[in-house]
Amino acid sequence: MDKPILIIDFGSQFTQLIARRVRQAGVFSQVLPHNASIDTIREMEPCGIILSGGPASLEEATAPGCDPAVFGMGVPVLGICYGMQLMAHTLGGQVARSGKREYGLRQLSLDIKSALFSGLEAACNCWNSHAYQVTALPPGFSQTAATDTCPIAAMEDGERKLYGVQFHPEVTHSQQGMAILTRFVRDICGCPGSWRMENYAASAVKEIKTAAGNGTVLLGLSGGVDSAVAAALIHQAIGGKLHCVFVDHGFMRKGEPEMVREVFTRHFPVSLTAVDASARFFGKLNGIIDPEEKRKVIGHEFVSVFREEALKLGQLDHFAQGTIYPDVIESGAAPGSAVIKSHHNVGGLPRELGFTSLIEPLRTLFKDEVRDLGRVLGLPEEMVKRQPFPGPGLAIRTLGELTPEKVAITRESDAILREEFDRSGFAKNASQYFTVNTDIRSVGVMGDGRSYDTAVAIRVVTTDDFMTADWARVPYDLLAQISRRITNEVPGVNRVLLDVTTKPPASIEWE
Ligand code: XMP
Repeated sequence: MDKPILIIDFGSQFTQLIARRVRQAGVFSQVLPHNASIDTIREMEPCGIILSGGPASLEEATAPGCDPAVFGMGVPVLGICYGMQLMAHTLGGQVARSGKREYGLRQLSLDIKSALFSGLEAACNCWNSHAYQVTALPPGFSQTAATDTCPIAAMEDGERKLYGVQFHPEVTHSQQGMAILTRFVRDICGCPGSWRMENYAASAVKEIKTAAGNGTVLLGLSGGVDSAVAAALIHQAIGGKLHCVFVDHGFMRKGEPEMVREVFTRHFPVSLTAVDASARFFGKLNGIIDPEEKRKVIGHEFVSVFREEALKLGQLDHFAQGTIYPDVIESGAAPGSAVIKSHHNVGGLPRELGFTSLIEPLRTLFKDEVRDLGRVLGLPEEMVKRQPFPGPGLAIRTLGELTPEKVAITRESDAILREEFDRSGFAKNASQYFTVNTDIRSVGVMGDGRSYDTAVAIRVVTTDDFMTADWARVPYDLLAQISRRITNEVPGVNRVLLDVTTKPPASIEWE
């Protein structure tokens, strides 16, 4: 196996992003906590080390450090933000609070004769977030970049192969950031760049085998990409010892329950319990129109059905989830690299189910990496490329009280929208697209008769992070085709609307 780039984590929210960029450069990377011992670091035989940023300041008594021997191992070290300050402080330079906190984009001038910036453009934008900076270089270092508020924005000691950057090359806003990281890991550290997602699959399979031992694993399939990829991966590791429970609450998109059943019986023959619980969910939701109440009832019922089915399977040893890195950040959990962590309450599953550990093999991956991994594992493209879909599914796209007839309108119109977006190629321009049963009826004419039927809305958004979104400018001809098909093919619909609202003030979903 390739020697890794070790990323020593000082608590930056970008640590896993650094790891991801290193993977993007085709290099194997591993994240270690800052207090890892020098023996552990040496045993891993890194070809280079990156010190992450972090929220602390070196003035604090509790400021995290790393073993100073890291700087004398003879392998190249790149310190980013706090990592650069720690390097300077440890090796005899000085760090002080800046007059002004530097936050956001800054114009950066680079010394392109330096080893790290060789071959780059001499000026570019870089993204910063710091209140402290290096004010005096440690002996042996030279200054290699500056911004107007940070004279030592980068430094290096070519002899000892030590490098520091005050800005964040790992974020996309930093122009040339990827080029800087690639230069470090490929040219300076000499990593071959042969790492591929196949390697991740192979090492995750090994780790899962060790974690599961001879035990059995339970995984809930939601119909989404993440749990499907986790299931395929765990299946590769332990085969028939993986038990999957798939609860169909009745609010899946057209064809999804069938696809889950097909893939996880034929392609990945896991032990699959697929429950059609739709009648039970509709029963519980009877008369409920408040969106929050609907969500609560669905969430609660989901856990109940899942638990009942899990108990029927008898005692299983481990619980697995398709948690991905953005979920880890969102839940506020400490960003760790471990695939396995000790178990406590998981997704509302009580301890009484008696699992000994939690297996989360996608914990360090970003969404597009999860999709790549799914492809590597051989999951069908239509499963891997699916857009995000909320847990309560079509229930929150069917306004008002839920009935099978109303949800059928949402499902059938959504299928037409998806088909037309795929056929026309517009799908690649949208982050999320779906239809909404507005629960509004209006008058129309059909043939010679008057109709009084449902209006369906089309929601199409573009967004990077789903926190804010714009409505997508869908071509009129495509809208016309979708509208024509929905009103012709979906019984009970006589009007189609287009949602032209940004988020905020609207949310992406309607409920
Ligand atoms: P909103 O409607 O809040 O949606 O603008 C932002 C993103 O989150 C998805 N979403 C959910 N995902 N469970 C989920 O897993 C949920 O309950 C849920 N509600 C909204 C939504 O589809 C969009 O991508």
